[in-house]
Amino acid sequence: MSFKTRKPQLFIETYGCQMNIADSEVVAAILIAHGYELTNDVNSADLVLINTCSVRDNAEQRVWNRLDFFRGHKKRKPNVKVGIIGCMAKRVGEKLLEHPAVDIVAGPDSYRDMPMLIDKALSGSKGIDIEQSEVETYSGIVPERVADGSVCGFVSIMRGCNNFCTYCIVPYTRGRERSRDTKDIINEIKSLINSGYREVTLLGQNVNSYNWTDENREINFPKLVEMIATIDPNFRVRFTTSHPKDISDELIEVIAKYSNVCKHIHLPVQAGSNAVLELMNRKYTREYYLDRVKKIRTLIPDCSLTTDVFCGFSGETEQDFQQTLELMREVEFDSAFMFKYSERPGTYAAKKLPDDVPEEVKVKRLTEIISLQNKISKKRNQADVGKTFEVLVEGCSKKSDKDMFGRTSQNKVVVFPNNGTKIGDFVKVKIVSASSATLIGVVS
Ligand code: SAH
Ligand code: SF4
Ligand code: F3S
Repeated sequence: MSFKTRKPQLFIETYGCQMNIADSEVVAAILIAHGYELTNDVNSADLVLINTCSVRDNAEQRVWNRLDFFRGHKKRKPNVKVGIIGCMAKRVGEKLLEHPAVDIVAGPDSYRDMPMLIDKALSGSKGIDIEQSEVETYSGIVPERVADGSVCGFVSIMRGCNNFCTYCIVPYTRGRERSRDTKDIINEIKSLINSGYREVTLLGQNVNSYNWTDENREINFPKLVEMIATIDPNFRVRFTTSHPKDISDELIEVIAKYSNVCKHIHLPVQAGSNAVLELMNRKYTREYYLDRVKKIRTLIPDCSLTTDVFCGFSGETEQDFQQTLELMREVEFDSAFMFKYSERPGTYAAKKLPDDVPEEVKVKRLTEIISLQNKISKKRNQADVGKTFEVLVEGCSKKSDKDMFGRTSQNKVVVFPNNGTKIGDFVKVKIVSASSATLIGVVS
């Protein structure tokens, strides 16, 4: 007689940035090695982990609401354990344990301790570890690729941030900047290639300050990108996020030189006024930023540029705000992530700079930013009509299974009728129409 043993089922949901997605893959790998199995169905889970973000207050509110849902869920399934991991676990800490749904709290540097924390929870007490580490990069752990069938992978190349922009919680939740060993990164990418991936996005809060010294040779970010680009010319490389202060000519030249280094730079500007940039401690001026944009456009004419921008920071006057709009008009970003300032406890700004732009002014300014950017995105996308792009086919379109979708080197989503192309193919697509969010094309 044989007994079917059912492995404990793990369900992970991830909020926040792409680094959290990569971290969930690390956590999954650690727990699979510990006997767990991943499930996509929350109702069959024995362990639910919520990987959280603290960057704005609404990111945290969403998690509190989710926890209220899990309070009910646990009444129906009393054996289920729930863990909060990631940036909010680090920032909020002990207070999360007071919520009846929470059994485990683990910060971004504590994932190796997850099995121990789970054992503690299973024995009836609550487990917390939010210690920060100066060195943890999860070396030796091969992330478990959660997105089955995807041809685009993510690889963290560094952790943490040293920039201390005055508004930002990330240096407090993620700790000091540390780069991963180049060899580990290259090996991880080679294994992605061997398992059918066609593209990788290198991840870090400030990828262009990557730095690793290997056998007395210093490997900076442009060198790392070059090493990856030369592994296989049919494998694409992207990266995010670049800090404007570190975007060197050397990096721009490497992007220009290799056809498989994607022609897209995400370059968060945050604000258009020098007074605001200085209060933000961004360490560059508007003029410097515009000069970098000029350099990029000169060396890589077909490069797309995207940004992060937010309004309503401490002391932002109407004139300051107008300078943000003016900069957006001048640069014409292809797209942007747009926010209103959310004060984060513990940051320099929370301690020293009053949150003095009234909420209704923040909302009005954000609406203006969004409506301007939508017009610009539409204009930039319509300028692509008639052009042909190489597109990496990523999947079937959500709206119709007769259509496929993929992305251009510029990171624009293209939808096109399926004429026998397969996921993972590179195809030439001619653009026939465009909205502010999507290009529509035909395989040419
Ligand atoms: N490391 C990246 C961004 C990390 S956070 C960089 O330096 O650009 C992602 C974006 O969230 C930031 O670029 C910023 O636009 C926004 N952001 C960060 N803190 C914020 C806050 N307190 N309120 C509103 N937006 C914020
Ligand atoms: Fe935050 Fe600035 Fe670091 Fe980006 S560079 S994560 S905005 S502190
Ligand atoms: Fe959020 Fe942490 Fe990323 S605060 S943006 S999940 S680094």
